[in-house]
Amino acid sequence: MSSDNTFLPLAGKTAVVTGGAGGIGLAGVRLFRKAGARVIIADIDEAAGQRAAAETGALFVRCDVSKSADVQNVISAAEGKLDILYNNAGVYWNGRDGRITDIAEEDWERVLAINLRSVFLFCKYGLPLLMKQGGSVINTASSAGVIGIPDCDAYTATKGAIVQLTKSMAAEYGRYNVRVNCIAPAAIMTPMMRQSNPENSTFDEERFLKLRTPLRRYGTPEEIAKVALFLASAESSYLNGAIIVADGGITINGDLSKC
Ligand SMILES: NC(=O)c1ccc[n+]([C@@H]2O[C@H](COP(=O)([O-])OP(=O)(O)OC[C@H]3O[C@@H](n4cnc5c(N)ncnc54)[C@H](O)[C@@H]3O)[C@@H](O)[C@H]2O)c1
Repeated sequence: MSSDNTFLPLAGKTAVVTGGAGGIGLAGVRLFRKAGARVIIADIDEAAGQRAAAETGALFVRCDVSKSADVQNVISAAEGKLDILYNNAGVYWNGRDGRITDIAEEDWERVLAINLRSVFLFCKYGLPLLMKQGGSVINTASSAGVIGIPDCDAYTATKGAIVQLTKSMAAEYGRYNVRVNCIAPAAIMTPMMRQSNPENSTFDEERFLKLRTPLRRYGTPEEIAKVALFLASAESSYLNGAIIVADGGITINGDLSKC
C-alpha cells in the first residue's frame, strides 16, 4: 500500500513492454504505470511510441523487436534492473500470411522473426537481469497457438512455438524465481484485429460474433491488460508455465449450432 492508501502492485518494479505503442500493449503500459511501475516501451512505430510515452510517462525506445542490436539497446535502457518482461509485439499479415503452399519464403521468415525471434532475443538479453532478483516474463500467444486456424500458417507456427517455449522456460527459470507465463488472446478489438478482418473481405462479423464467441462480443485491450497485470504482480506468485486463454470462450466453443 502507498501512503495515500492506493494499491500499487508494481511499485518499485521496472517493466519492458514490447509493442507497447498501440493495441493491447498500450493498454498494458497504461495499467502498469497506474500500478506504479517504471515502464519502457519497445516499439517500431516512432510517432505512436512518442505519443504513448508522453501520455503515460513511460520511456520510449524505438526498436524493431526482430533485431538483436535494437533489443540489446532496450535492455540497456533498463539500467541494470528489470522485473517484468512483457513480450507482446507481434504481427498478423493478412493477405501475405496464408497457407503453406502460398506463403512467400521471405514473408514466412519475417513473421517468424517479428513474432518468435523477438521473444528469444528479449529473453536472452533480459533474463540475466530478471534472474538477479526474480521477476515475471509474460509471453503472448493467441487462439492460433492452441487451436488450428487456417490461412495464417506463419502466424500460427509462431504462436504455437511461444506456448511451448513458455513451458520450457518456466521449467528452467523457476529456480531463479522467474515465472514465465503466457496470455493467449482472441478477438480483441485493436488495429491488428481490424486489419485481420478487413471490411472488404468475406468476413461476416455478425455471424462470427453469434457463432464463435460465447460472450457475443469482442474483447477489449484493457481486459487483456488486466490479465497481464495479474501475471506481472505478486498476485500470481504461484503461476508458472500457465497458458491463460483470454478469448471469451472462443476456443472452447465446440457447439456451433446455437445461433
Ligand atoms: N488483437 C487480437 O485479437 C489478438 C489475438 C490473438 C493474439 N494477439 C496478439 O497480441 C499481441 C498484440 O496484438 P494487438 O492486437 O495489440 O496488435 P496491434 O497491431 O494493434 O499492435 C502491435 C504493436 O506492435 C508493434 N510492432 C509491430 N511490429 C513490430 C516490430 N517489428 N518491432 C517492434 N514493434 C512492433 C506495432 O507498432 C504495434 O504498436 C500480438 O502478439 C498479437 O499476435 C492479438
